[in-house]
Amino acid sequence: MKKVMFVCLGNICRSPMAEYIFREIVSERGGDFAVASSATSSEEAGNSVYPPAAAMLARHGIRCGDKRAAQFTRSNYHEYDLIVCMERRNISSLLRMLGSDPDGKICRLLDFTDSPRDIADPWYTRDFETAYEEITEGCEALYEALSQKEKEFTAK
Ligand code: 4NP
Repeated sequence: MKKVMFVCLGNICRSPMAEYIFREIVSERGGDFAVASSATSSEEAGNSVYPPAAAMLARHGIRCGDKRAAQFTRSNYHEYDLIVCMERRNISSLLRMLGSDPDGKICRLLDFTDSPRDIADPWYTRDFETAYEEITEGCEALYEALSQKEKEFTAK
């Protein structure tokens, strides 16, 4: 089983969208994944997914249930195989907390696509549509990359 943790600043917009979009892809196409999301800040800890982000998921038939924001912890680093950030700033924050990334687990979602970039924070841009589209693009590319790796591994 591959354990994937999505990370953003508040864990109420982008990383929960990534968590539930990725879960949806896995439930449609298969695979053995444990998926979670968390925040670099403690600002929103305990809060529900931000309603416009939840509404964007719901428009695409994806429910995020009773997801509550949680801050990323040092032990999460060891518990997850891949820590997928929404923007460079999240990577810097994690590295400040952890000191280093000895296992090379920390990456950025859109680096799995042909057009590597940050996902702008819809909390500030108010553009939840673009966030949804970019996160979906990244999750599709991430799923393909991990499935490809799995195939190579089982072929050996
Ligand atoms: P997220 O968006 O990182 O995509 O969850 C944010 C949510 C809340 C705040 C910042 C970003 N905030 O400052 O409270």
